[in-house]
Amino acid sequence: MVKKAVIPAAGLGTRFLPATKAQPKEMLPIIDKPTIQYVVQEAVDSGIDDILIISGKGKRAIEDHFDRNPELESKLEEKNDEIFYNEIRRIADMANIHFIRQKETNGLGDAVYYARQHVGNEPFVVLLGDTIIDSVIPVTQQLIDTYEQYQCTVIAVEEIPKDKVSRYGIAGGKKMSDKIMEINQLVEKPKLEEAPSNLAIAGRYILTPEIFKAIEKTSKGKNNEIQLTDALQLLMRREMIIAHTIEGKRYDIGNKLDYLKTTVDFALKRKEFAEPFLSYLKDKIAQHRDT
Ligand code: UTP
Repeated sequence: MVKKAVIPAAGLGTRFLPATKAQPKEMLPIIDKPTIQYVVQEAVDSGIDDILIISGKGKRAIEDHFDRNPELESKLEEKNDEIFYNEIRRIADMANIHFIRQKETNGLGDAVYYARQHVGNEPFVVLLGDTIIDSVIPVTQQLIDTYEQYQCTVIAVEEIPKDKVSRYGIAGGKKMSDKIMEINQLVEKPKLEEAPSNLAIAGRYILTPEIFKAIEKTSKGKNNEIQLTDALQLLMRREMIIAHTIEGKRYDIGNKLDYLKTTVDFALKRKEFAEPFLSYLKDKIAQHRDT
C-alpha cells in the first residue's frame, strides 16, 4: 500500500528569476492558488494523507500556507466571509503535512534522499512541487493502481512531440500494453536521433525504499547535482522499473512560457472567467492579426 507522499520543493527556481529571488516558485499562483496546493490536492485526492515536503532556504511561505492563520481567520469571521474562512481552514487541514529542510540544493536525487527516515520501509509517491498535472483520475492514483499490479518502481511518462525529446528525460523499453512499458533505458535530454522513444518523464514517481541505496551510490551528474534519473538508472540494473503513460496534461510551472499557458488553460476552465477571458483573448488575437 502506498500511504506516503514526498514533494521536493527546495530548488532555487533559477529559470523563473527574478520572481523566485525571495519567493518559492512552488508558491507561484495559478489564478488564486499556489502551485503546490494543486500538487498536495492531487495526493489527497489519491487517498494519501501523509505528506513530506522537502523545503529549504527561503521556503517559509510554503509552511505558512499549510498552517493555521488565526488572525486572518478572525478577520474573515468578523466580515462574515464564510467562503474564504472555510477555504483558509480547509487548506490547513488538507493532510498531515511534514517538512524537512534540504541543507544544500544538491539536486532532486539528494532531495528525495532526505525522505528516507520518514518513509521507512514502505513504497512512496514523489510529486514534483513545481508540476501540476490536470487529469480526470489523479495521476498519483493512476500510478498507485499500476504499482499495486506490478509491485515495483513506477515512473509517470507522457507522450511528447518527437521534436521536443531533447528537452526532457526520456524512457525507452519494451511495451507490455498500451500504457505500460518495462524500462531498459533512461536518457536525460537526448538528441532526436538518439532518443529511445517520445515518452518523457512527467514529474510523478512511485518509488520503493531501494531507491535510497541507489541514491547513495549515485555520483554528481548534470549541473553538478545528484540526479534522480541517474539513481533510477542504477536501480534499473537490479530491479524492474515500469513506465506508465499517464492520462492527463502536465504543466511545468518552473518555466515562464509553460506558466503563462497554465494560467490561460486554468482560467478558461473557471466558470467565472471562461467567457470574459475568452472574449478578451479573441480580441487580442484579432488585434495581432491586424498588425
Ligand atoms: P527543478 O530542477 O525543476 O527545480 O526540480 P530547480 O532546480 O529549482 O529549477 P531551476 O532549473 O533552477 O529553475 C524539480 C523539483 O525538485 C525540487 C524543485 O523545488 C522542484 O519542485 N528540487 C530540485 C529540490 O527539492 N531540491 C533540489 O536540489 C533540486
